[in-house]
Amino acid sequence: MRHPSDMIEARAAGRVISVVTCYDAWSAKILAASHVDALLVGDSAAMVMHGHETTIPADLDMMCLHTAAARRGAPDKLLIADMPFLAHRKSLADTVGAVERLVRAGGQAVKLEGADGNLETIRHIVDSGIDVMGHLGLTPQSLHRLGGYRVQGRDERAAAKLADDALRLQDAGCFSIVLELLPSELARAVTESLSIPTIGIGAGPHTSGQVLVLQDLLGLQPDFKPKFLRTFLDGFELLRDAVDRFDREVKEGTYPSEEESYR
Ligand code: KIV
Repeated sequence: MRHPSDMIEARAAGRVISVVTCYDAWSAKILAASHVDALLVGDSAAMVMHGHETTIPADLDMMCLHTAAARRGAPDKLLIADMPFLAHRKSLADTVGAVERLVRAGGQAVKLEGADGNLETIRHIVDSGIDVMGHLGLTPQSLHRLGGYRVQGRDERAAAKLADDALRLQDAGCFSIVLELLPSELARAVTESLSIPTIGIGAGPHTSGQVLVLQDLLGLQPDFKPKFLRTFLDGFELLRDAVDRFDREVKEGTYPSEEESYR
């Protein structure tokens, strides 16, 4: 995919959408060569790339740095950049300034968490010519209020509120919505109620597409094992074994060889 509107077209045509997070140029090059539809420079960068416990330490400088790096590695893929913690909750001028920096860094659209209090802001960003992806369910920037990483929308009231929020985000102009950690029947009902695509993570198989953190799907974070995660590679073991081979061959004196040396 090249543009946010491609996601809407894919949904209308019944094509399932794949999205992967990306924070740097070298993994962006791999993803650029893959069939994955779109890249998300998520604020999960704070956890995955910087070792923080939550996404809250991500700020605009951090997000712009990762967005620019990912864009350099994948110049032609649809790339969505996350608005970091509170970046859209100060003033409209601050919000527009943040969006401007993310777009100048290479994002083609921005993602922001939650619906309450954000609808006018979303309308303003969309009217300014920038597409917005919504994010409902487990919204990690509200972790302290939500009381931890747990499945959302389990009771009737919370499910009804979430379904209503999704419609409000669509009305405000969002081109798609991430649904994170929801019962799959709720994600299905929300998806069926919308004309824009939903991209699920831990929300079952009935959304319009799926997103995973690259390092999670590659098995590079062996201590992170939520029920929804499937790993497609034993990345941690494979990379560690390669580095250990280097270490062994250096210490045995078999690397570098004559062929790998200059005369
Ligand atoms: O920050 C992120 O990586 C995300 C995805 C998990 C959807 O928001």
